[in-house]
Amino acid sequence: SKAPVRVAVTGAAGQIGYSLLFRIASGEMLGKDQPVILQLLDLPHAQKAVKGVMMELEDCAFPLLAGMIATDDPNVAFKDAKVALLVGARPRGPGMERKDLLTENAKIFTVQGAAIGQYADPDCKVLVVGNPCNTNAYIAKEVAQKYGRVPAKNFTGMLRLDHNRALSQLAAKSGRDVSSLKSLVVWGNHSPTMYADYRFVTSNGDNVKGLINDEAWNKDVFLPTVGKRGAAIIEARGLSSAASAANAAIDHIHDWVLGTNGEWVTMGIPSDGSYGIPEGIIYGFPVTTENGEYKIVQGLEIDAFSRERMTHTLNELLEEREGVKDLLG
Ligand code: NAI
Repeated sequence: SKAPVRVAVTGAAGQIGYSLLFRIASGEMLGKDQPVILQLLDLPHAQKAVKGVMMELEDCAFPLLAGMIATDDPNVAFKDAKVALLVGARPRGPGMERKDLLTENAKIFTVQGAAIGQYADPDCKVLVVGNPCNTNAYIAKEVAQKYGRVPAKNFTGMLRLDHNRALSQLAAKSGRDVSSLKSLVVWGNHSPTMYADYRFVTSNGDNVKGLINDEAWNKDVFLPTVGKRGAAIIEARGLSSAASAANAAIDHIHDWVLGTNGEWVTMGIPSDGSYGIPEGIIYGFPVTTENGEYKIVQGLEIDAFSRERMTHTLNELLEEREGVKDLLG
């Protein structure tokens, strides 16, 4: 049988953690033949709650759960991790400005980027879920590069929830099975500015944009619905998306590690300059994955409407980068 893989999860006592950990331990993320060791990080005051989650994990008697640790020390949590899910983040408190949110999180992701850079497995695949996730991933990536061990391309941000939300909206509108939909991409930042681009989506060979045949729906319904879905969930549930966010994190890592067989998924990844997106910015791109490596889908035509949307979400990311520049030195 396979050697266990160490999976670090931060914010382990939180809502997303509670939906995520059980699915990792059951084999849904890395495969039903891959044992895992969970390395759980949370703040000192949350250690008791993490212990409670560990008790429940024990009570599931998962055959693939080969071990668990709980810690408040990032250097311990990320030690030898092959997968790191950075879920814990500082939420926006009352009276906190966007700028404060950015800088408070920048402090967290500076520390965690340094820990990953020094102690994680050199092939560690990092997914940042905690918001603002693109810029948090950018910070962790930049800091980790100082140690020259874990490559920049391994630092990713989560656009997959936006991708899955968009797929569901398209399935409902077109009347096609969600599983039949291929070649969607969500460009840019995980924020209401993201651009869910349905122009290339097919279902059993049919172009879905053609099937829907309603240009106004794209602009007036589809994009706002996907963009504001997070707020709509909060409004309905009184809490932010958690199970769907955990599901998206599972999908992101599953597909990155196990491959997409030529199909596109959206990942927030450091740009290599493709599609005119400045190098290094963590931006949602269409990718295919094979043997644990992702590749950006190239050669897509960008029309004027798409370019405008892609630039708008890029500008937000450039502003966020500007906001944390001083902290990165
Ligand atoms: P939560 O508040 O229920 O849990 C967060 C946990 O992180 C808490 O246990 C907290 O103690 C911990 N934490 C805070 N700072 C930490 C640090 N420095 N190190 C380790 N742990 C730390 O929040 P929830 O609902 O689980 O969401 C977590 C994050 O995920 C939020 O930032 C949220 O905005 C983000 N999110 C991102 C989505 C995406 O699509 N990228 C979707 C939904 C949520």
